[in-house]
Amino acid sequence: MYRTHDCGSLRLDDINQNVTLSGWVQKSRNKGFIVWVDLRDRYGITQLIFDEKRSPNNVFEIAQSIGREFVIQIKGLVIKRESKNPEISTGDIEVLVNELNILNESKTPPFTLEDNTDGGEELRMQYRYLDLRRKSVKEKLLFRSKVSMEIRKYLISAGFIDVETPYLIKSTPEGARDFVVPSRMNSGQFYALPQSPQTFKQLLMIGGLDKYFQIVKCFRDEDLRADRQPEFTQIDCEMAFVNQEDVINQFEGLTRHLIKKLKGVNIESFPRMSYEEAMKTYGNDKPDIRFGMLFGELNDLVKDKGFTIFDSEELIAGIAVPDAATYTRKEIDGLIDWVKHPQVGAKGLVWVKCNDDGSYKSSVDKFFSETQLATWAERTGAKIGDLILIISGEIKTTRAQLSALRMELAKRMGLRDPEVFAPLWITDFPLLNWDKANQRYHAIHHPFTAPKQDQLDLLKTDPGGVTANAYDLVLNGNEIGGGSIRIHDQKLQSQIFDLLGFTKEEAQAQFGFLMNAFKYGAPPHGGIAFGLDRLVSILGGDETIRDFIAFPKNNSGRDVMIDAPSKINDSQLKELKLKVGPQKKE
Ligand code: AMO
Repeated sequence: MYRTHDCGSLRLDDINQNVTLSGWVQKSRNKGFIVWVDLRDRYGITQLIFDEKRSPNNVFEIAQSIGREFVIQIKGLVIKRESKNPEISTGDIEVLVNELNILNESKTPPFTLEDNTDGGEELRMQYRYLDLRRKSVKEKLLFRSKVSMEIRKYLISAGFIDVETPYLIKSTPEGARDFVVPSRMNSGQFYALPQSPQTFKQLLMIGGLDKYFQIVKCFRDEDLRADRQPEFTQIDCEMAFVNQEDVINQFEGLTRHLIKKLKGVNIESFPRMSYEEAMKTYGNDKPDIRFGMLFGELNDLVKDKGFTIFDSEELIAGIAVPDAATYTRKEIDGLIDWVKHPQVGAKGLVWVKCNDDGSYKSSVDKFFSETQLATWAERTGAKIGDLILIISGEIKTTRAQLSALRMELAKRMGLRDPEVFAPLWITDFPLLNWDKANQRYHAIHHPFTAPKQDQLDLLKTDPGGVTANAYDLVLNGNEIGGGSIRIHDQKLQSQIFDLLGFTKEEAQAQFGFLMNAFKYGAPPHGGIAFGLDRLVSILGGDETIRDFIAFPKNNSGRDVMIDAPSKINDSQLKELKLKVGPQKKE
């Protein structure tokens, strides 16, 4: 038997027991006549004591030679610890060792495997198996496992069945590039890895499975950010005979349950906001509603007053930054520089201070009176002591820039409290988006999303104005899920493919299987997919999904531990009948 107890379980009650423990040497302190070792496993740390007088001679000798991360097994007696350690669960006891067995030696690890490590990100990723031994990293994975288990329990008890769908498929257009896999048996042909199981889950509804879910890997070849990985996990769900309200209620129930169960926070019902309102008041379709600074649009108050910059712009909008009227010139200049930063790209900021004495001071005093500035304060909801910041320009970019500024200020002011949970449904998305450059429509959600039933006529006259039966779930300013009611009518689906610029032949070649299935009694259906990595990381108090993935990719999409992607050998290429052009020098 390797162990009678794990390293996190011994307490005062166990004193005088003979125990066997196995684990890794986190730290060893040699005082000459006494050696202390912190023995670590998944469950915790237990202090071992090797004593020149009380431990057998050979054991004491070997103890002096064990290094960090050696894997050892010991037998010993649980004794009371003289100086207690309240930081760890076993801090009241230690184990006086009388038998020591080295199970495996270890090289000195390239960084310290404690909570505060000296290892940089790249190094920790390269030795991820060592990084995983650290408590803070391991706890994130344990938390993820708990969340997945709760999701499974909840959905299974709600009558959903877990069905696996294939990974080697034909491309599904979810808006990103596909990862492709060459087929040896069908030379010159490729599978695509699924961006989501979208078409399969619809086929499962046509197959009569009624309620489906799957916790499933999805693959998207897109630029990476803190909340994006090229392979990520969805909680993918679909239901037959449902409308939007049914899907929203079902998955609001799931999310409420998770927040209650895992965080102990009770949220009654989730607020809802239309896409249009979200864009107008937060400049963003995934607003963080934990704090204010809602947009005030000022066009009618500021145009034709002699300030030509505002006169020529499409949108002039501002936010009231709480208690920031005391910002110095230097601080305001810092913000101006920040918005001019290429990632934000604004031309500048107009500011108004709402002073404590009720007066106003602005960067545009030459053009606007205090009475006029007071109307701006009213529109943006600014109180005495606040600072109004205004951006102007083309509608879409101005909203994006002001939203970026709002989020940055909230971060700097500590308004994004990770222990506060603010879910929000965004509804009534537009169905299509006009792509000026390519002179064609794109589906905002995906091509299988149904238009609102009462807007079918509009598809012919003003497709860009049609609203979709689609919804997103936002949590603390992150899109954690998205779904829609689907088209289940073959003619309507074909009309949408037309609008998206597919020829009849292209639509048939790419989606013939689905259109054909629609001809055999497809039930009305709809669903949603959550981003599990995002959900887990936000519930875990973080927004970097990488930390909650056992073996994540870096920002260039590389796994630095296994060194992938990498070249394949010539015989593999030959077998696949693939030719590779000149390769990048490494
Ligand atoms: P969508 O594309 O909105 O919808 O994806 C659903 C959710 O998956 C998460 N997500 C990601 N997480 C990490 N890295 C990524 N690269 C990434 N891309 C997406 C997001 C998102 O809300 N088939 C539809 C769902 C449906 O209609 O039922 C779909 O995939 O949290």
